[in-house]
Amino acid sequence: MDRKQFLKTCGLGCLGSIAAVSLLNSCSSARSMNSSIDGDNLVVPTSDFGNETHGFRKFIVVNNDLLKFPICVFRHTADSYSALWMECTHMGAELQVFGDTLQCPAHGSEFSDRGVVRNGPADRALRSFPISIEMNLIKISLKKQ
Ligand code: FES
Repeated sequence: MDRKQFLKTCGLGCLGSIAAVSLLNSCSSARSMNSSIDGDNLVVPTSDFGNETHGFRKFIVVNNDLLKFPICVFRHTADSYSALWMECTHMGAELQVFGDTLQCPAHGSEFSDRGVVRNGPADRALRSFPISIEMNLIKISLKKQ
């Protein structure tokens, strides 16, 4: 291997390392957590989304053993959140979340961070839950509407 080829190989190796670190960092900003149910509400501390100093997560996936599917909670602003049932409205597969999009691994439907269909075959919005914020706690009402 000559000098030029050696430098080219090392450069590509460094780029690969940087890409891998960036990918790991983006994964660490996502968060999945178990949350408690208090009465009719699933309760999530606002601090779980981060803070001014370290930045805010765009979403958290919340689980509870009593729930058949997780709920994805998106933070839009300090006092605006969406809580979306992660069951695809097409045929009921569990959705995956990437950035501001929920995607279905079964047939490719996509939903926005407010539950609106972006791409079919699903043709109905996701189930969403009313939210109230009290004492830095996000309360997601699980009451049937
Ligand atoms: S079950 Fe989600 S697109 Fe079909």
